Amino acid sequence: MSKLKAQRIILTGATGGIGGEVARQLLAQGARVGLVGRSAQKLQQLGNELGDNNISLIAADITSAEGRQKIVDQMQESFGGYDILVNSAGIMDFTSFLDQSDERLEAVFQTNIIAPMQLTKKVLPYMLAQNKGQIVNVGSIFGSIGFAWFTSYSTSKFALRGFSQALRRELAETPVKVTYIAPRAVKTALNSGAVYKMAEEVKMNMDSPEYVAKQIVRSIVKQDKDRYLGFPESLFVRINALIPGLVDKATRGQNKIAKKYIS
Ligand SMILES: NC(=O)c1ccc[n+]([C@@H]2O[C@H](COP(=O)([O-])OP(=O)(O)OC[C@H]3O[C@@H](n4cnc5c(N)ncnc54)[C@H](OP(=O)(O)O)[C@@H]3O)[C@@H](O)[C@H]2O)c1
Repeated sequence: MSKLKAQRIILTGATGGIGGEVARQLLAQGARVGLVGRSAQKLQQLGNELGDNNISLIAADITSAEGRQKIVDQMQESFGGYDILVNSAGIMDFTSFLDQSDERLEAVFQTNIIAPMQLTKKVLPYMLAQNKGQIVNVGSIFGSIGFAWFTSYSTSKFALRGFSQALRRELAETPVKVTYIAPRAVKTALNSGAVYKMAEEVKMNMDSPEYVAKQIVRSIVKQDKDRYLGFPESLFVRINALIPGLVDKATRGQNKIAKKYIS
């Protein structure tokens, strides 16, 4: 029997390219899933496509206190609580640091790191009280290698990785697990047309959302600590940590090409 059978899972970013696939695969393993996204219409469409009774559609903005309250309330109502939180909602800009507005910079941080931290804070007391729980943070290879023209996104994912590590250590004596999983580029709408064009020219590897979702679900089941997807990207993560100067040199040409595509 699947370890996920009857597990109650909060999935943010459920209407996204990766989230939709994660939802499908979690349901296939018998989990009960609270699907979170801002757009009620997109959620309804996803719900119809999934055609499963083990779902709860939660239209909520994770960056608002009311939105986070609605998520926990609705999980209580639909499933009597929650066992796993998957923080997958995220936003990204492909732009020069100087040209990004302060409002967008704040939105990237609110969505990619502050809201996941606040939502984690909201669900942890219940998980600790029931002696069982898992926080799953969907990061990025850009959270270990700072990427030119993705500066605010990259920085927010560095923070998410740091949060995952610090919280894991803080919860070490408790039964609550923390998983950080970092995909490389994935073919979803998170990436604009300009990103796709740039990726093609610099021959950036891009995975399918189906494959990445499978790895996320696998990491949930195995309760992995940190996981980096794709080769050679996972190796570059290690090289960048030890000898960042090498990665400076290796990415210089690519960064020049990428600059042609930014907006
Ligand atoms: N695609 C990639 O290349 C890639 C690579 C590495 C890591 N990742 C990470 O994987 C995760 C999922 O990415 P994706 O490619 O599936 O993105 P996506 O297709 O753009 O979907 C983003 C999801 O986040 C939701 N969302 C955004 N802001 C929200 C908010 N304030 N409150 C609630 N929900 C919100 C969106 O729904 P609404 O708009 O309806 O709210 C949507 O469901 C992200 O954390 C991303 O950083 C992606």
